[in-house]
Amino acid sequence: MILVVASGNGEAGMVPAMEILRHGGSALDAVEAGIRVIESDPAESSVGLGGLPNVVGEVELDASIMDGRTLAAGSVGALAGFEHPISIARRVMELSPHAFLVGDGAARFAAETGFSPCMLLTARSRRVWQQGLPESLSAQGRRGLRRRGELLPMVRQAVERISQHGTVDFIARDANGNLACGVSTSGWPWKYPGRLGDSPVIGAGNYVDNRYGAAACTGYGELVIRCSTAHSVVLYMRMGKSIRAACRSAIHDLAPLLATHGGAVNIVAVDRENRPFGVTSSAKGGYYWVVSEGSATPEKRALEVVVP
Ligand code: GLY
Repeated sequence: MILVVASGNGEAGMVPAMEILRHGGSALDAVEAGIRVIESDPAESSVGLGGLPNVVGEVELDASIMDGRTLAAGSVGALAGFEHPISIARRVMELSPHAFLVGDGAARFAAETGFSPCMLLTARSRRVWQQGLPESLSAQGRRGLRRRGELLPMVRQAVERISQHGTVDFIARDANGNLACGVSTSGWPWKYPGRLGDSPVIGAGNYVDNRYGAAACTGYGELVIRCSTAHSVVLYMRMGKSIRAACRSAIHDLAPLLATHGGAVNIVAVDRENRPFGVTSSAKGGYYWVVSEGSATPEKRALEVVVP
């Protein structure tokens, strides 16, 4: 049975993704189409166009896509100047002998494979970026940040102001029973240039295997990388845990890191029986979206709160 599951900021991409599945399209096509909608929305401050920039004012995007049928995967990280990193990640998977390209190499690959560069910084995201910089920094100082030798103190100070940052996750199952999973983000605002989160790291922010299920993360990427959270969820399901127990165990794995660093991690997942589930380590809760063959509109579901 066809199914689309997305993180809380994925609603606008659900119907286009589902339409692809209803017309016999693949899970990979559905995931890519759903995420492209979110990447194109300039009001979405943590994904694609309008994403918040790094400390020197450059929007660097991370994305990954994985095919649960073949375990093929493609990722791009710290990619500047292209609106749809999810599509470039898919090209990495389908056209290159590699699984992961970053920075200038990823941009070069995007241009070589037909993507047009674009300006990702909007008036709003520029304003938010400037508000996070030290008040003592003049306009000239802001312009000179790209050449400045010392950025670390500014990064440390600025990231303390982060109230929230986001990522979009999509999981789809097509009429042939194949699963795919995609993740896209601009990562932390005011991050150090070149910082990669969990989203492009296969096994950390994204993992899918038709035989067992799929999982994708949002939240504090530095913690998710250290616990290989998405892969853990799928591995726990492979070892016989229910999807709920698998997600809860993956959150408990993060407990020492969450206790030390704070922040939160959210997981959306689908098991091999097509059951969706979502969980968060945040006491504030949250939600995710599900649409399946029988439903006309996406359904908003609460993430189960597991404070480890
Ligand atoms: N989870 C997204 C990030 O940390 O970049």
